[in-house]
Amino acid sequence: MDTRFFGTSEQDIEQAAEIIKEGGLVAFPTETVYGLGADALNPEAVGKVYAAKGRPSDNPMIVHISSKDDLGRLTFEITEDMKKLMDVFWPGPLTMVVPAKPEVPRVTTGGLDTVAVRMPSDPVAAALITLSETPIAAPSANLSGKPSPTSARHVIDDLDGRIDAVISGGDCQVGIESTVVDMTGSVAVILRPGIITQEQLSKALGKAVEIDPALKTKPEMAEGGGLLETAESFKPKSPGMKYKHYAPKAEMIIYKGDREKASLAMAEEKLRRTEYGQKVEIIMYDDSEPEKAAREFFAKLRACDKAGVDVILAAALKEDGVGFAVMNRMFKSAGYNIVEV
Ligand code: TXA
Ligand code: MG
Repeated sequence: MDTRFFGTSEQDIEQAAEIIKEGGLVAFPTETVYGLGADALNPEAVGKVYAAKGRPSDNPMIVHISSKDDLGRLTFEITEDMKKLMDVFWPGPLTMVVPAKPEVPRVTTGGLDTVAVRMPSDPVAAALITLSETPIAAPSANLSGKPSPTSARHVIDDLDGRIDAVISGGDCQVGIESTVVDMTGSVAVILRPGIITQEQLSKALGKAVEIDPALKTKPEMAEGGGLLETAESFKPKSPGMKYKHYAPKAEMIIYKGDREKASLAMAEEKLRRTEYGQKVEIIMYDDSEPEKAAREFFAKLRACDKAGVDVILAAALKEDGVGFAVMNRMFKSAGYNIVEV
């Protein structure tokens, strides 16, 4: 299949919406990362998303809407807590997991009776959803296991010929995927950290918000290092969290601990590896700028792959606020290959 390339003119977005209506696949920009969209209410179309990405079918999609009113099409009751979060964070990089109406195909929810819903703030995403006249199911528009795409170029590198179209809308502002919060219980639980933090959610709700304990434990490793594709002992509530993720081709090592010591250890390791003829890249973001790290990290991994980098040495950021979300991605990219300094 030839993948069509669209810009962001109204005409282009209208044509892309036609493809969604006909059950096709369109990659599009959001403020977080590019999504691979299909009509969320069309099981056949959603099935094609799993196939194009090579994604396991028990890993559910996020359903994207362009108006708060559309939440009622997907779930029965909109609780006071859900309303509070919608008021503060929608449109924006927050996904809420809520009970799913029977009309939501179970292929979209990965067989679950809950559905993850998000209203993106990117105007191109919003226009595409509105013109498609249906909620759009969209995982990140990368091949399964690769870093999430933050530009149309990244999407094409992974999915050219496998999808109907991509809308090119520049680089994503946030750079990591949305915060996913489970709203099905009496206490909100963060299933995937993002740029919207636990503290912000808790402030908006006026009560404590929990973090899925699975986010704080290191999953079981396969023999010889690397994440097991599905570690039996690792059962996070967000199915996507158990799969191998964001991996660059390069070997990746994270240096955790005192910044200066990390910097020295990385420099030494770089020297040693370079002597062996390896191409080494160092990633070191400032602790005070986790948002910058979020914006650039996935693109950096892809750039390393393109440049034929053999080893990536990365300094850990402080694991609080946005830094917690960045480190969640970094640890996974490195397959939890961590050196404590
Ligand atoms: O920022 C984002 O959220 C991007 C853009 C495109 O909107 N989308 C995205 O989708 O990151 P994806 O499919 O790559 O990640 C969705 C995550 C997965 O970890 C999945 O397991 C979880 O959300 N998820 C989806 N539905 C769920 C549900 N019903 N219950 C628990 N977790 C769910
Ligand atoms: Mg993804």
